Amino acid sequence: MAKAGCMACHAKDKKMIGPAFKEIAAKYKGQDVVATLMQKVRTGGKGNFGPIPMAPNPPEKINDADLKAAVEFILKS
Ligand code: HEC
Repeated sequence: MAKAGCMACHAKDKKMIGPAFKEIAAKYKGQDVVATLMQKVRTGGKGNFGPIPMAPNPPEKINDADLKAAVEFILKS
């Protein structure tokens, strides 16, 4: 995730430009959202944690396997 630039906007347990991974994990606790969140990270999104949008993260930045691992890691935070 550091390589893909995720950490420029996210941190494990404090809010930066994007929500803390802990915050994301708490919001989706107990839900099966890996596929949904992978899609959202790919295309970008806004409105779930505030008005600041997340820019799209194309496959050149992070491949599917790494993205899946990243989302699973976030949800376990
Ligand atoms: C330019 C800053 C930025 C970068 C880079 C970034 N994010 Fe985000 N991310 C955000 C913001 C801002 C939000 C909150 C969007 C919202 O309110 O819906 C967010 C939200 C998220 C969410 C929750 C999405 C939702 O709709 O609930 C996940 C998961 C996530 N980011 C993962 C990642 C991963 C993985 C990467 C690296 C591939 C990444 N982010 C890179 C800024 C960023």
